Amino acid sequence: MPANPDRGRLSLGQRLVTMRTRALAGGFGLEISGIDLAAGGPALHAAIVELFNFHGVLVIRDQRLTPEAQLAFTRAFGEPETNQRLEYTIPGLPEVYVLSNRMEDGRKIGDVDAGQGWHTDASYLERPAMCTMLLALEVPDEGSDTLLADLCAAWNALPDDRKAVLDGMQVRHSWRSLMALKGIALDPDDDSIPDVLHPMVRRHPADGREALWISTGTTAGIEGMDTGEALALLEELAAYVTQERFVFRHKWRVGDLLIWDNRCTLHTGTRFDVARYQRLVHRTWVRGERPV
Ligand code: OGA
Ligand code: MN
Repeated sequence: MPANPDRGRLSLGQRLVTMRTRALAGGFGLEISGIDLAAGGPALHAAIVELFNFHGVLVIRDQRLTPEAQLAFTRAFGEPETNQRLEYTIPGLPEVYVLSNRMEDGRKIGDVDAGQGWHTDASYLERPAMCTMLLALEVPDEGSDTLLADLCAAWNALPDDRKAVLDGMQVRHSWRSLMALKGIALDPDDDSIPDVLHPMVRRHPADGREALWISTGTTAGIEGMDTGEALALLEELAAYVTQERFVFRHKWRVGDLLIWDNRCTLHTGTRFDVARYQRLVHRTWVRGERPV
């Protein structure tokens, strides 16, 4: 990380906020400190959305947000997504999902391993989650890092002849495949979430930058290609985009608000010693557009 973070002064109406920012990894992601999202209003929130659109990942330090305040901030980005598994949401707030190994009154209050394995959120939907926001309330002393891969850098680093072959390919994302991988048997007639095709090369609406938008877990084939061949190609590309040179590793501190752009990143959670430590994270998702 650069030794001298640059200081940005943000004029918000009558007040002047001093926001400190610094790059997280080579050209990817931004760390922000010196702001209080709970006290800030729409102008501060809009400024953060603007930064988010161009940096892929934001880490905003030292935030104290109630679930209601996190949800209000989430709305600055768009429409929050409601979760299917209501048992892991905050009572009365189905948009706030709990990631935790905590037990309360003999009941699991959250999902322990929502995000193990490289993926982009809800890519099995026609309109996958646009962004994901995790607020850390309690973090293990070790483990549970969240890793993020820069899919624009991965795309840019490919030679032109490889780009020409991949551009235009349509990848099949499948909820059914993901469930099979997790060992969850679906009713064969259940087509509530049908397979969907998404472009392999995704263009970001903010500036047209391109991302090699593949994933693992949900990807079940490529349109017009033999399935075995397609799965081998997807596996090779997943290994390529998740090389260390494209990855930022987030080590959690209490009060971190981590926001990633699912349109141009992949991520994975990592394990921690659940017998020794407790983790409590509140997650919100913003509904996305159809990828183009
Ligand atoms: C998620 C996810 C990773 C983590 O909630 O979608 O991938 O580190 N989480 O909790
Ligand atoms: Mn995830």
